[in-house]
This record gives sequence, structure tokens and C-alpha cells, in this order.
Amino acid sequence: MNEELSNHLLGLQLPTDPRWVNIAQMNIEDILVDHAYCEQKAASSCISLIVLFPEKTEMVEMITPVVAEEWNHFERVLEQLKKRGMSFGQARKDEYVIQLQKVVKKGGSRDQQLVERLLMNALIEARSCERFKILSQNIQDQELKNFYYELMVSEAGHYKNFISLAKIYMPEEYVLTRWKEFLIEEANILKSLEVRGDRMH
Ligand SMILES: [Fe+2]
Ligand SMILES: [Fe+2]
Repeated sequence: MNEELSNHLLGLQLPTDPRWVNIAQMNIEDILVDHAYCEQKAASSCISLIVLFPEKTEMVEMITPVVAEEWNHFERVLEQLKKRGMSFGQARKDEYVIQLQKVVKKGGSRDQQLVERLLMNALIEARSCERFKILSQNIQDQELKNFYYELMVSEAGHYKNFISLAKIYMPEEYVLTRWKEFLIEEANILKSLEVRGDRMH
């Protein structure tokens, strides 16, 4: 397994509960549906960044191709569902993201606001990357195993993009301090949530 993708390097403070993968394997339809929504939200959150901060040229240039990648992930999860005779149902309440959004600070300069959003995106990418890694290592279905491995690498790239963009708009020290705070909050949120196998997070 690629060492670069260890939790240590992703910065995550709390590893996923080992029970998650066992439950998740039993609920593959729920996981795929929830995953499809995660990819859809990833694409729309990148579009929002571009819509809200059009003057941030480096960000717009880096994020525009990511929209297409996330949309492609979404399409491919839909394909996996279809192939298995499963259907893409209603979106479920995403408690993880709802809680994380509360960590985003309101106010401050426009650059600070952008950095808050970039770090929030980086965090979701890092956790998704960790979960995909776990799925790719444990899932029995060979096709999904390969799929999750590929996505793990892709989301790790997105995570790096978001962090390096944040450092363009605010000093490195500020970004690292804020990033650490995000990581601590995320670990607390994860600890407070029930371990469920029908959710990606
Ligand atoms: Fe994705
Ligand atoms: Fe991503």
C-alpha cells in the first residue's frame, strides 16, 4: 500500500473504526448509493468555489478539471449500481458533513473565507481517501476493490490540491494552524457519530 496515503500523512487524527468495513461490506448497496451522493456533492462543492470566488484565478484553474473528475466518479458509481441491479435512491441526511460545516468560521477576509472552504474540502477528501483505502483492502468484490483503489489515489490528489491552494491565499503558518484545528474537530465529530455500514462517513 502506498505509504503516502497513510493516515499520518493525510493528517487524520482518528482512524476509522475497524468495525466499519465489516458492516459496510454487508450493505454494499447503501454504501454505493451514499458514495454516489458524496461524489455528486464533491462536484457541486467545486462548482460553488468557482461560482463564489471567480477572481481567484489559480483556484479556478486548479479546481475546474476536478469538477469533471468528480462528475466522472459519480457516473461510475451509478454504473456500478446499475450493473448490480441496484438503484440510486433518495439522498440521506449526511450527519458527518452537517457537523463539519459548523467548523467553518464565518467572517474574516475573502481569502480567509476561501481558505475555510478549501480546508473543509481537503478534510472530506482525506477521510474519503482513508475509507476508500479500507474498502480497497477489504472488499471481496474484485471490481469494486480496483475501483476503490483508483478512487483512493484520485482523492489523495484532490486533498493535496486543496491544501496547496489554501497556502496560496493565506500564509503557510496560518493554514497549518487552522488545518490542525479542523483535524481535531473532525476526529471529535467522527467519535460522536454512530458507526454505520450504510454510510461512507
Ligand atoms: Fe471523487
Ligand atoms: Fe475528490
